[in-house]
Amino acid sequence: MQDRHYPPAPPLVNRVTGIIEPSSAASGSLPLRCAAAILVCLSATALIGCASASRSHTQVTQQSFGKTKEGTGVSLFTLRNAQGAEARISNYGGIVVSLKVPDRDGKFGDVVLGYDSLDDYLTETPYFGALIGRYGNRIARGRFTLDGQTYKLATNNYPNALHGGIKGFDKVVWQPMILASADGPSLKLSYLSKDGEEGYPGNLSVTVVYTLLEDNALRVDYTAVTDKDTVVNLTQHSYFNLAGKGDILGHVVMMPADKFTPVDSTLIPTGELRPVEGTPFDFRHATAIGARINQDDEQLKFGKGYDHNWVFNKQVGEFTRMARVLEPTTGRVLEVFSTEPGLQFYSGNFLDGTLKGKGGWVYQFRNGFCMEPQHFPDSPNQPQFPSVVLKPGQTYKNLIVYKFSVEK
Ligand code: GLA
Repeated sequence: MQDRHYPPAPPLVNRVTGIIEPSSAASGSLPLRCAAAILVCLSATALIGCASASRSHTQVTQQSFGKTKEGTGVSLFTLRNAQGAEARISNYGGIVVSLKVPDRDGKFGDVVLGYDSLDDYLTETPYFGALIGRYGNRIARGRFTLDGQTYKLATNNYPNALHGGIKGFDKVVWQPMILASADGPSLKLSYLSKDGEEGYPGNLSVTVVYTLLEDNALRVDYTAVTDKDTVVNLTQHSYFNLAGKGDILGHVVMMPADKFTPVDSTLIPTGELRPVEGTPFDFRHATAIGARINQDDEQLKFGKGYDHNWVFNKQVGEFTRMARVLEPTTGRVLEVFSTEPGLQFYSGNFLDGTLKGKGGWVYQFRNGFCMEPQHFPDSPNQPQFPSVVLKPGQTYKNLIVYKFSVEK
């Protein structure tokens, strides 16, 4: 199977100022002809939308999504591409609230779990669709040492720290900006995480740009800079169900990873990089999630199923395809690409029928799965893992692409 290469993100045009912003993902200049077309489009349309010279019509609309408990107004943005695919994203937690893509008969359906209302997200969510930071996944016992100083974090997943703490990036209000890019409708979210927030050092300035590409891929570009040495590991926590109903055990997964990081009973990596060969963790050949998930295996017992980090044979920063998932009844296919060295594949083992989601769907055990490209869990305490340290003057970058297609 070939890895698909997406071009660097194009420069983005701020819809309010008309200023072309530097790309969040990489350099590369937009052809002048196209940039001019976008500027014309900006001034010509009152709707928040844009048609570029070389691409068909795409648009972003904004509506209220309610208020946080503190009274801050939050929006819901709808990104639509010319193929009819649609992503609804809130600036509360950067949550992908819904994602509609076609099946093999051209029928559009929502392929992510979540809620209809902001209030439900505020009440209780297992990170449905959210941006995760400052640190995706667990840090053992909520502590790490950097430059000789020990930092203490909330142990919100006792005895460990999980997904950035009590109020991680999934629970903050991001500053939104609708952008027009040559590649499709785009939403930029910015957040300044203050020095000491959730126990992490340094003022961390983060931007995330969601773009709905014309090939029905949702592209997520992350950048972050700090003013003090810190640790960063950002990811995306959408729960997918490509059938839009039922459990995910029939989804067929392929991951070209020959190792994974086994965990202890609290889901902290032991430090070993274990070959997948001969284990239920070998997805190098496409295999149904349910085929081996209930096997008598210590690692599956610790995770209550799959809740592990797969390790890919690549350079950190190399953009590769990390997973392909087929849902055979609808023909929908999800491919996950990223620059990250690891992928947390979580089979929704903590869903237990207590949360009622969109359209009244009660989310039962393993009704959704997550594919979270990331650096390895607990890296701040495991120096043999790729480094998650970010220093002043450096720019953290991470590119994740979730691409949808169909198999006939
Ligand atoms: C991640 C973790 C899981 C779980 C979910 C959220 O995927 O690895 O153990 O915490 O998030 O419920």
